[in-house]
Order: sequence, then C-alpha cells, then structure tokens
Amino acid sequence: MNDISSYVQTHKERFINELIELLKIPSISADSAYKKDVLNTAEAVKDSLLKAGCEHVEVCETAGYPIVYGEKMIDPNLPTVLVYGHYDVQPPDPLDLWHSPPFEPVIKATELHPDGAIFARGACDDKGQMYMHVKAMEFMTANQELPCNVKFMIEGEEEVGSENLGVFVKANQEKLKNDVILISDTGMIARDVPSITTGLRGLSYVEVEVTGPNRDLHSGLYGGAVANPINVLTKMIASLHDENKHITIPGFYDKVEELGAEERAEMAKAPFSLEAYQKALDIDAVYGEEGYTTNERNSIRPTLDVNGIWGGYTGEGAKTVIASKAYAKISMRLVPHQDWNEITDLFKSHFESIAPAGVTVKVTPHHGGQGYVTPINNIGYQAASKAYEQTFGTTPIPQRSGGSIPIVSLFEEELGSKTILMGFGLDSDAIHSPNEHFGVWNYLKGIETIPWFYKYFTELYQQ
Ligand code: BES
Ligand code: MN
Ligand code: MN
Repeated sequence: MNDISSYVQTHKERFINELIELLKIPSISADSAYKKDVLNTAEAVKDSLLKAGCEHVEVCETAGYPIVYGEKMIDPNLPTVLVYGHYDVQPPDPLDLWHSPPFEPVIKATELHPDGAIFARGACDDKGQMYMHVKAMEFMTANQELPCNVKFMIEGEEEVGSENLGVFVKANQEKLKNDVILISDTGMIARDVPSITTGLRGLSYVEVEVTGPNRDLHSGLYGGAVANPINVLTKMIASLHDENKHITIPGFYDKVEELGAEERAEMAKAPFSLEAYQKALDIDAVYGEEGYTTNERNSIRPTLDVNGIWGGYTGEGAKTVIASKAYAKISMRLVPHQDWNEITDLFKSHFESIAPAGVTVKVTPHHGGQGYVTPINNIGYQAASKAYEQTFGTTPIPQRSGGSIPIVSLFEEELGSKTILMGFGLDSDAIHSPNEHFGVWNYLKGIETIPWFYKYFTELYQQ
C-alpha cells in the first residue's frame, strides 16, 4: 500500500481544490439564514461520497439538518469502520478580524505551516478533516486497497449540539453497526509530534438572566437605591471561583476522578513549552486552578467560563442608565464521570441560591454532553498508532483534549463501540476563531495516514 503517498502526490492539487469548493459554502448551522447553504453542503458531501466509491449513499432527513450516509460493504466476515464527521461550521464572526473573507478560501504560508494553510471557516473544524476520509476512501476503492467494510455518517448539527444525530443513532442501531468508530475532528501536538486524542471533555452550557427593576432607570435618580442587575450578575459570576480558581458550586467536584501521580507523570512527558504557549497568545502569564499544570487544566480538570455577557447600554458614547436585565452565557467543561445533567442542576440551584434580594434569576440550560475517555489497549488504538508510525515515522502520544464532541459517548452507549480520534489539526489553527486554517501538509498527511489505519485494524481484527 506504499502507493498511497504517490497517489496523494499525483492528486494533491485536485484534493485541495475540491476542499476549497466545499469550504465556499457557508454551512452555518446556528444561523437559520444559511439554511439553503447547509442543505447544499449535505448534497455536496453526498456527491463526494458517491465519487469516492460509496454505495447506498443517502441524505437522511431529520427534524433538523440531514445526515449524509454512505457505505461500502465488501464482506460480512470483515470488520466495519464507521467514519463520523460534520459538514456544518461555526458562525464566522467577528468578521472584521478575518484577513480574508471566511468563505473565500485562500492558501497562505505561516510559521507553523510553511507549506501553506487553507484559510476559511471550517477548514480544520471539520470540513477539511472530514474530507480527508472521503479522499482516503477514494484511494482505497480506486486501487483495490479497501480491506474491510466502511460506513460514513456525516452530520450537519455538530456545532449546535447534535440533538437529531442522537435520535438517528438510537433509531438506526442495526444500520450503523460497526467494530470501531473513526473520527478526525480533534488535533495533534505538532507536525513532528503526532498524537492520538484519548479523551474529550463533557459540556454543560447554560444561559442566565438577572432581572432587577421592571424598566431601565436613570442611573442618577435610582443608582445606589436599587439592585443593578449588571453589578449583581458580575458579582455572582465572580463568586463562582475562589482565590485558588476552584469552582465554588457545591458538589461540582464530587464525581471528578483524581488522576494518580503515575498517570500525571505520563501526561507531563508530552512536549510543551510554556514560553511558546504564552508567546503565541500574547499573554505574560497563564491562569488557572492551583495545583495543576496548563495541560492538566485544559484536559483532566473541569472548568467554568463565561462565553458572553451583555446588558445595558453598549452603543457609542455614554448613556446613564441602570438596565432592567443582564445576561450571560456560561460553559462548563466536564471530565469523565461528571454527569452533565446533574452538573446543570447543581449550577441552577446554586446560582439561584446566591441571588440577592432585589433581583430574580432565570437559568436556561442549552445543550451539553458527557465526556469520554478511550483506553489505549484496544486494537483500534493500536491500529491508529501503527498508522502514524508508518507515515510520521514516530509513535504518536496519547493525549486527552479539552474540547467536546458530546455524541462520542452516545455512540458508545447506543452502538457499543469505541471511538478512535485521529485528529490532524493544530491547536493554533484557530478553530471557532477568525482566520481558521488547516495546514496543507496536515491535510495531505491525514489522507495518507487513514488507509493504513484500515489495513492495520483489519489485520489486528483477524488475529
Ligand atoms: N471539533 C470540535 C471539538 C474539538 C476540537 C475537540 C479540538 C478536541 C479538539 C467540535 O466541533 C466542537 O467545536 N465542539 C464543541 C461542542 C459542541 C457541543 C458545540 C466544543 O467543544 O465547544
Ligand atoms: Mn468539530
Ligand atoms: Mn467545532
């Protein structure tokens, strides 16, 4: 199968151009103004699966955006790999911070991507990484190198919580039956330090509303005499962490698993430069929970962050006013064993309990999901590890990520299979931010590595 690298070399221009076409469609699932574009993207994904050699390709309707399904079943005695990815993207705003328009992809070299990176919303998360699998499939079917059965399931609502995918999975257990789930929707440490993601954090996302007086008031006539919802909200939010940056919600840490010294020492072996980290973000210090390293804080520890806060007058100039209402959106990243519904309830009762007299508080839960950890002693992990060794020439490091793909734990519950997370993006690729990009080298390396996973997985399965 050594011809995969020459296949990539021969076809790389086309691979890049096809991805660029896909990136031009603004498939923003959060914004209903883009409904047509999201649906068009599903059609484009469907066409690409057909061209790559999939059969029974369908755009499956859901109560929301469709799921694109396709398969190639060659022998019931061989294992089946289920590939999952998403064709929807995050909203691109703030638009003025993009150096080129988010849906007009351009290739530019960067310090970390000397061979160029494709700049566009969705380049890395997840169109580029999802499309690597489509091109790997093309190679395998065109060259009689497909060693097992494959199913593709590409959804359009990952960035808004995957609610309808959950329904689809529960209703289609037989259709989706598989031996391993393969996803490229995470990252790796560096170009010369490949890694396999072995953990994802859970998530609870809530919105809070604090209401004071029944109307906006003159801040001179009423200031000091009534509760100001913005003052109150910010104080309530500040109280959610103590001086050691521990979260103060009672019961929040009850189910958090403390890692042993050995496992923490193992984690600490992953190459990491605090200096480079700070420099890349232009900060003079890191900040976080006492007693944990930066890599621990963003992977094995739960966190609470305000993602947005608003209220009162934010227009030009000054307006003297006490707003009637103040709002915030808050995410809590959770670790395995913390149940997201339970954490949402704990947050709600605590937040309501700390509200002072003079205001009312409303907590509205948004989406959420459980965390995930995958063991490294299974054939899926081993096959992935061997695949990276083959194409990177070095053994990948297992690493837990701070991000969330809530559907992964549901896959395990409903389909009974483990997920292998072969991510090829870098943390610095600016997913969800302005100027998202995906290295051309990473894209092509991903296409090259994936077929080896199929080969080794099939071999290990048959042993
Ligand atoms: N692909 C990301 C998650 C990710 C990125 C995990 C990098 C690990 C490394 C995914 O598209 C995402 O953005 N997930 C959301 C949660 C979702 C429910 C909106 C997240 O993590 O914020
Ligand atoms: Mn993603
Ligand atoms: Mn995302």
